[in-house]
Amino acid sequence: MIKQAIIPLAGLGTRLLPLTSVFAKELLPMNGKPGVEYILDECIEAGINEVIFIISNKKKIIKKYFYNDKRVIDEYKKIKKYKKMIKFVYQNKPLGTGDAVYKTKNKIKDNFFLMLLPDDLIIKKNCSKAMISIHKKKKCSVMASMKVQKKTVNRWGIYMKDKNIDKNNFFIKDVIEKPNIKTAPSNNAVIGRYILPKKIFGILKKQKKGKGGEIHITDAIRTLIKQNNKFIGHSFEGKYLDCGTMHGYIKSSLEIAKS
Ligand code: G1P
Repeated sequence: MIKQAIIPLAGLGTRLLPLTSVFAKELLPMNGKPGVEYILDECIEAGINEVIFIISNKKKIIKKYFYNDKRVIDEYKKIKKYKKMIKFVYQNKPLGTGDAVYKTKNKIKDNFFLMLLPDDLIIKKNCSKAMISIHKKKKCSVMASMKVQKKTVNRWGIYMKDKNIDKNNFFIKDVIEKPNIKTAPSNNAVIGRYILPKKIFGILKKQKKGKGGEIHITDAIRTLIKQNNKFIGHSFEGKYLDCGTMHGYIKSSLEIAKS
């Protein structure tokens, strides 16, 4: 059973500067509701009962949102409900997603857990729920996948596909973080939903810095695949919204307001 989810929230949000020098992008409202609440709702609907937020001292505003204002807590039952299920850990140096995941190592109880990247919203169909259901059948790791334009492959983790399981799922042979267009093995990109095994912490402990001097979760996943751990790519049916840039944020807000 997958009952715990982790959400890395310590990112600097450089793509949304200067706004992110004073505010956490994950709290920016979309149709009146902070982006991170859409992610929390996806978790709750998928049966998750504990969510670990990885924040930093600079992003304590996120904790405040759930904790500080007693009037708000009395007023909005929903925030109280969220608060009960959230734990906080800190990543004060922005060393990458792999390092963020490693910070949760003492909190994870079961053999598998879910990770959601808050810049990636998926609406209309619950991607985490669909991935948990495949995980239940195949008892292995699952990651979300979406076809992207060839010319943008260097912005994503890119899959090398192995055989298909069914129309929405395939086994992964390899995954490469932000390859260049010439060496990219496909245009199937990693989107920010992962079901990862607890044993990834052993790999992350020794993980060296990769592209851009960051510790990438993709590199640790790659090692696990090489060690014969099965990973499935799930082509999700929902609609993907990129909230990591100002253009994406505005477009996503409009899209959510319409839906
Ligand atoms: C991260 C991952 C990348 C993935 C992407 C999805 O990249 O490292 O593999 O494709 O999220 O949004 P980032 O957006 O942090 O550059």
